[in-house]
Amino acid sequence: MARLTESPAYQALADHHGRIADLHLRDLFADDPGRFDALSRRLDGMLVDFSKNRVTAETLSLLIDLARDRGLEARRDAMFAGEAINTTEGRAVLHTALRNRSGRPVMVDGEDVMPKVHGVLDCMRDFTARVRSGDWTGATGKRITDVVNIGIGGSDLGPRMVVEALRPWAQDGPRVRFVSNVDGSDIAEVLKACDPHSTLFLVASKTFTTQETLTNAHTARDWIVQALGEDAVASHFAALSTNSKAVATFGIDTDVMFEFWDWVGGRYSLWSAIGLPIALAVGFDRFEALLEGAHAMDEHFRTAPLDQNIPVLMGMIGLWYVDFFGADSYAVLPYDQYMHRFPAHLQQLDMESNGKRVALDGTAMDVQTGPVLFGEPGTNGQHSFYQLIHQGTHLIPCDFIAPARTQNPLGEHHPILLSNFFAQTEALMRGKTEAEVRRELADKGMGEDEIAAALPHRVFPGNRPSTSILVEEVNPRALGMLVALYEHKVFVQGTIWGVNSFDQWGVELGKQLAKGILPELMAGDPVDSHDASTNGLINAWLDMR
Ligand code: F6P
Repeated sequence: MARLTESPAYQALADHHGRIADLHLRDLFADDPGRFDALSRRLDGMLVDFSKNRVTAETLSLLIDLARDRGLEARRDAMFAGEAINTTEGRAVLHTALRNRSGRPVMVDGEDVMPKVHGVLDCMRDFTARVRSGDWTGATGKRITDVVNIGIGGSDLGPRMVVEALRPWAQDGPRVRFVSNVDGSDIAEVLKACDPHSTLFLVASKTFTTQETLTNAHTARDWIVQALGEDAVASHFAALSTNSKAVATFGIDTDVMFEFWDWVGGRYSLWSAIGLPIALAVGFDRFEALLEGAHAMDEHFRTAPLDQNIPVLMGMIGLWYVDFFGADSYAVLPYDQYMHRFPAHLQQLDMESNGKRVALDGTAMDVQTGPVLFGEPGTNGQHSFYQLIHQGTHLIPCDFIAPARTQNPLGEHHPILLSNFFAQTEALMRGKTEAEVRRELADKGMGEDEIAAALPHRVFPGNRPSTSILVEEVNPRALGMLVALYEHKVFVQGTIWGVNSFDQWGVELGKQLAKGILPELMAGDPVDSHDASTNGLINAWLDMR
């Protein structure tokens, strides 16, 4: 396939950008009263409004041409069909099989994986019921009141985000806590709040070799053994992993190992056994509703025409900003307090997937790839970094997400929250013109000189793009749809850039070097084996500790 920048479809977009880059959203809305209807899409109670983006009908049509030209449909179909599209690791990419509710088989190397998927879901359902009913007890017969998930990256961020987002849906279950950081303070604080008699640990690791997770798991194991003896381990530990050998070596019976497979990427794994803490928190039926929501988005992504396809439009519009407007960052802003970990989950999903500098064929990229993603729940972000989004020199496309209904209808809180949600996208789009500022200041009685001095600071250029997503409420199904929407958005962009969105070699070097440094720290002798800075820092630490 021709390089991206050499493709006629890309060049057509570059020409088009030259023509429309200066159009102001304010004028686009003024010229077309039907813009909202034309540029918003709905799916099962979700409304996605793309109209506050710097696009015209022609832009969308050229972006769709580019998607077709880069073989998006064929690659999407190859992913759903279980082809080994993760070529640098020789693996299929099948998180969609984990939530496949269609009854269709999904073949990997000639084998239908669906029976295995259903088998593990059945085990999870059974275990969830036992723990939540009190049938599964600790070694001394006490009911499990606290579940501690020990994992990191995809074995932490996804399930933690969902457990937080669905907190109002978690009744009658154990408290579910998370430990991820190898910093001992993380596990120390969690253990302080738990009683060994009634605590169940889930050791969540796809590889079961991750240093942080194994270190925390050993500390948890020692804590249980010290309080209850070696025999208690069987009642207080379960494993979520692909590596049964390492699980057994650690000392967890593989009867309480919930399996998944190498075709599930870590950052796409919350739908697998890695979702067990979610099921324990909210119950298995609600975990299934999450899977159903994701499946609904999968079906939409698989079958909707590209110009009606929400993840395709979201991915292509995002890429339009990165490659043609030079936008190097991207904000995701949930106006729902329970979704406060959503941006953190998306950081791994997006940045570990598309943070790539070479294409699938090994050639260096000649365009920018995945942007820096950040975000905070509204309205907290408004009092922090929104200033830069409104008036800074960077162009930062934003996604605003809000539920129509809150789980806590207290007084005017939700209308106030949503008034901010609507106002921010309007302000970003419209800005405030010189004439408006001038009028406002004159009305306040300011003199001409004062107004002239204040004007440049008070003018907002506007034309700052945003996409708004409204869901009826943040329930398990809607959350499943939202997460799958972002997964497919990342897939769309990775496909157009031609990168492998499913490997993460970039995280290895630091891990390798840390393995070499640890014995040096433990030995405690001054070092000279590194560069001057690293030697200096290690030797300073040896003196300071
Ligand atoms: O940070 C790299 C990474 O491999 C992630 O992709 C993964 O989610 C995380 O480490 C944890 O890996 P594991 O589940 O194997 O412990």
